[in-house]
Amino acid sequence: MPIDDNINYEYIIRYIRKELTPEDGFASELEALAKAEEIPISQPETIKLIEILLQISGAKSVLEVGAAIGYSAILMSRHSGASVTTIELFPEMANRARENIRRAGLEDKITVIEGDAKDVLPTLTDTYDAVFIDAAKAQYMEFFPHCLRLLRRGGLLISDNVLYKGMTATDELLLHRKRTIVKRLRMYLDMLREDGRLNTVVLPVGDGVALSYKLKD
Ligand SMILES: C[S@@+](CC[C@H](N)C(=O)[O-])C[C@H]1O[C@@H](n2cnc3c(N)ncnc32)[C@H](O)[C@@H]1O
Repeated sequence: MPIDDNINYEYIIRYIRKELTPEDGFASELEALAKAEEIPISQPETIKLIEILLQISGAKSVLEVGAAIGYSAILMSRHSGASVTTIELFPEMANRARENIRRAGLEDKITVIEGDAKDVLPTLTDTYDAVFIDAAKAQYMEFFPHCLRLLRRGGLLISDNVLYKGMTATDELLLHRKRTIVKRLRMYLDMLREDGRLNTVVLPVGDGVALSYKLKD
């Protein structure tokens, strides 16, 4: 398996990463830190894709499920100017995200909500231009109804890691201990595809990204 659980060939990943617009030292520092501590963060090309989608769509507000150390929230906000509300389950991780957001000078733009998204999402009432789901893969189906409710018509729902090292696409790669997560991811993708309110495509970028455009309420 190539770099960082990426589903593409290693030579392709190395090449496209060389071609990505470089981030500053702070983003690289967060990438190195996440790697050293084995904290899963979105892959650089996935984040770049999201930044560009937010730029094209003129998104002003983003809801993220799964902050970790704040890496994706910082890059999304930095490149689109959008306000980001991000939910993180673990208090220690939420604190680290807040500290990194402060260091990035984005504390006025990014709000970290500490808690389980299953409890937090039902309490939210604002509407967002984009929603990025990047937390426990087995729970995407439970996050989905709330994320769709909170997404404005014409907004974008982005779901990361949906191909899960290729396992979602073929049983040949499926590890026995991952079969429940993979089953749930497959059901989640069916749910996205079959929802008449959405137009969805799955892209083989990073660990697999589902992009869903909300056509109607
Ligand atoms: C893949 S990481 C997020 C990476 C981040 N989006 C980035 O790219 O920089 C997933 C995060 O989701 C958090 N998480 C998992 N389940 C959650 C839940 N039910 N509610 C909120 N956060 C959750 C984990 O603690 C972890 O920090």
